[in-house]
Amino acid sequence: MSSRLTGDETALWQAAARVLDANWTGCGTVPSPGLYPHLWSWDSAFISMGLARHRRSRAERELLSVFRGQWERGLVPHIVFNSELPRFGYFPGPDLWRSRSVPGTPRDLDTSGLTGPPLQALAALRLHQCADAGEAEHSRAFLARLYPLLVAQHRHLAEERDIGGEGLAAICHPWESGMDDSPSWDRPLSALDLPPSRYAPLRTAGGGASAGEDHDRYVRLVTLLRDARYGTGQLRDEHPFLVEDPLFNAAYLASTHALAEIARLVGRDPAPHLEDAARIHRALLDRLWDGECFRALDLRAGALIPVVTVASFGPLLDPDLPPPALRTLAELLLSARFGGAAGYPVPSCDLQSTSFDRTRYWRGPTWINTNWLLWLGTSAHGLTVIADLLYGATLRLVRQSGFREYFDPFDGSGRGSHDYSWSAALVMDLLAARRASHAA
Ligand code: GLC
Repeated sequence: MSSRLTGDETALWQAAARVLDANWTGCGTVPSPGLYPHLWSWDSAFISMGLARHRRSRAERELLSVFRGQWERGLVPHIVFNSELPRFGYFPGPDLWRSRSVPGTPRDLDTSGLTGPPLQALAALRLHQCADAGEAEHSRAFLARLYPLLVAQHRHLAEERDIGGEGLAAICHPWESGMDDSPSWDRPLSALDLPPSRYAPLRTAGGGASAGEDHDRYVRLVTLLRDARYGTGQLRDEHPFLVEDPLFNAAYLASTHALAEIARLVGRDPAPHLEDAARIHRALLDRLWDGECFRALDLRAGALIPVVTVASFGPLLDPDLPPPALRTLAELLLSARFGGAAGYPVPSCDLQSTSFDRTRYWRGPTWINTNWLLWLGTSAHGLTVIADLLYGATLRLVRQSGFREYFDPFDGSGRGSHDYSWSAALVMDLLAARRASHAA
């Protein structure tokens, strides 16, 4: 089979390259022009993997720019602000977070005070894996430079976020999941007290929380963390939102395996990372698997969150997932609740859930990054039929609607912002990976 791109694939590749070139700022890539004008940590992880196929030096620069925002305790903030832009041009901007007032944070730039799905080690390793022979030495030196920063990031998660004590990292805000308004957060958010004098929730006609009220809850959670100077005591003892999310922890596990591999490549000991990986693997099964799928665990309520979302499939990234769990997840993915009834899988929420909404962000639409993660996981497990389905559906989405932020899962129409960087970057990675596998 040919290892070259077809004419149509070449056109797609070039269109994706134009998006990444246009969104490059000189040291990183904005998720989309206008709407998201700073750097987001998980976006940059995805984007770097596309850049690695296109402009390698930018891929490295992208990851390093994210780590410029790293706090001394190892936290990798989910947003690094571009100080050349007006301070009030974006909300939640630097004045909400006040990162520079916290000891041990970067002095020369502003960041958020939350983290995001820890995909950076996975991205760094993928950059290395797609380096050609002439780039290998430089690539190894880059990994050696990044390794201590990645170790600090993982240590922070293990020491400050393993609040359940069994190996998983808890998120303390929906934004840390990357799936901001997922229905998984409805229950823990509704348990949150909002001071009525400071926040004025608008009620929807049905009496439920409006998007505005959710927004107040997001901001309330940030001010609780900020007012405690992002301290671990408040987090552990008082913070009202603490959830062990399957996608966040699957990213953590995949990156821990990648860290072990990076350790080997740079002449360090992989054993501690492999021990960490074994612990995360065990805890995912013991704590989040209920026999049907993985669910988020609300640590404050002490209960699994009933709604099933695309995050439930995140542990497909676990290379040691036991075969029965793998089979059960694959069946659910292909069932009428997900891929089986959507023209363009995978919807972000169970189609049969009352929370499903085909138009709203993480409450139903399909996203390129989650499709890509599931493609990666199913490919690694040899589930080629599902991997091919995801590959085809993902390319069909962008061919039909362009590099949109997210898409209607029934008709593939585009929604949210245009020229969205990770949609372009991950399409490049998909095309390049397919070409490489045909060449092999
Ligand atoms: C949206 C997405 C989040 C992403 C951010 C920047 O908030 O929900 O996952 O990181 O945009 O693209």
